[in-house]
Amino acid sequence: MESGSDHQTARALLEWQVELGATEAIGDAPVNRFELRQEAPGPARKAPARPRAASCAPDRPETAADDPVLVARRMAAQAEDLESLAAAVAAFDLCDLKRGARNTVFADGNPQARVMIIGEAPGREEDLQGRPFVGRAGQLLDRMFAAIGMGREAAHPESALYITNILPWRPPQNREPKPEEIAMMLPFVECHVELADPEVLVLMGNISCQALLGRRGITRLRGKWTSALGRPALPMFHPAYLLRNPRAKREAWHDLLMLQARLRES
Ligand code: URA
Repeated sequence: MESGSDHQTARALLEWQVELGATEAIGDAPVNRFELRQEAPGPARKAPARPRAASCAPDRPETAADDPVLVARRMAAQAEDLESLAAAVAAFDLCDLKRGARNTVFADGNPQARVMIIGEAPGREEDLQGRPFVGRAGQLLDRMFAAIGMGREAAHPESALYITNILPWRPPQNREPKPEEIAMMLPFVECHVELADPEVLVLMGNISCQALLGRRGITRLRGKWTSALGRPALPMFHPAYLLRNPRAKREAWHDLLMLQARLRES
């Protein structure tokens, strides 16, 4: 083959490779990297990182010790009171949300309260202050309950509220919590409810319904008594939803009156 034709063939080959998506020339001859790996291991590599929490690494845990849900269950089960549970939640390292959070948001209000409110997850303001429901939605929540004579500052269990969330750390950009994040924090929530021992639960919005009832669809669930963790539970519209949809405050008022009536009955 004369050199002109060589040149044309090489050029055609190159064009064909570019057509196929090649963007870089990395060697004159092809290299079989599978053979290379077997024959020449090369310099020692860093030990592979320990499998990460399921929230961000969907790999299956290798042993029970790596399963975030089992670890959470074990840690929660060891807590004997709310203080040690709060410490256990703060020490739980397998949820990646913790890394992006400024504070662990455990609870607020009076743990003796007859009513325990369970929200979704901290937002920006809650993350900054380390207390649940202190942003705009939280202020609305306070006004809603004040309208039936209840509040987080109340000393008497009759009129007091105890408030927590399914997740103690703010999801980035307030995105919806992932199922695996909910699953790994649920043992702590279950233990939290058991230790606080409220008479009734108020489930604020879809995420807490999903976590504790296994269902969502707050428009249908709200305003009907159901049972969660063996206790009467009332799903309600989340106050953040009410801020966006003020017309739904009518239904929220109805639900607050239902709650008040139930508390008066017993
Ligand atoms: N929304 C929630 O569900 N919880 C908070 O603490 C704040 C906003």
